[in-house]
Amino acid sequence: MNLRNMLSCILTLGGCAQMVDSSHNQVHSLIRERHSARAMSGEKISTDELMTLFKAAGLAQSSYNDQPWRFIYAERETPHWQPMLDLLVPFNQSWAAKGAVLIAVISHNNFEHNNQFSRTHSFDTGAAMENLALQGISMGFIVHGMAGFDYDKARTVLNVPDDYTVEAMFVVGKPGNVKDLPAELQSHEKRSERKDVKDLISEGTFKIKK
Ligand SMILES: Cc1cc2nc3c(=O)[nH]c(=O)nc-3n(C[C@H](O)[C@H](O)[C@H](O)COP(=O)(O)O)c2cc1C
Repeated sequence: MNLRNMLSCILTLGGCAQMVDSSHNQVHSLIRERHSARAMSGEKISTDELMTLFKAAGLAQSSYNDQPWRFIYAERETPHWQPMLDLLVPFNQSWAAKGAVLIAVISHNNFEHNNQFSRTHSFDTGAAMENLALQGISMGFIVHGMAGFDYDKARTVLNVPDDYTVEAMFVVGKPGNVKDLPAELQSHEKRSERKDVKDLISEGTFKIKK
């Protein structure tokens, strides 16, 4: 552990932050390389590329293979773009406006086979979204999640039925110039730290520090 990490452990009263470093070398490079950048060029991505992202999402595992994820998308330069961009908080609009596609991630609360509540509808949908993110990174795109949007307005504007949950929004785009980002965001355009894995796991029963 380097000096910076040691300091971070002390300052967070025992919870250690860790850089993605050589200790992660055994982790697949795609997973190591994924991070949520913001500098996008405003270029479009092709419909084929977009469909590949959704196909990757669709290959995720899910309870009863129910596949509860749903995606509503808006490509830039279409009439759907602005209403979806308007759902975002101003901070997110300030950089996501240069994306190529906005995606609202929705999940179906109930199983299709019996219409009973599915405990894992959000969990399954998160797995699908990570597939989409990793596929996007592998194709050289930026894929960035957002909870900073008006969930109630999204339900109304996107016409989401009551038995579906609005989970999150994502923007996908081609990488752009960091210097074109709002000044205060430029220094954030780097990989973020992680909690030390040792603080997140325990063998047998829950013995993890709260
Ligand atoms: C569901 C979800 C919501 C997020 N909401 C926002 C957001 O509103 N604005 C933002 O700039 N980043 C947002 N992020 C990005 C996170 O801040 C980012 O994933 C986290 O800091 C870890 O960084 P990394 O993805 O680069 O590893 C969100 C990510 C997820 C998965």
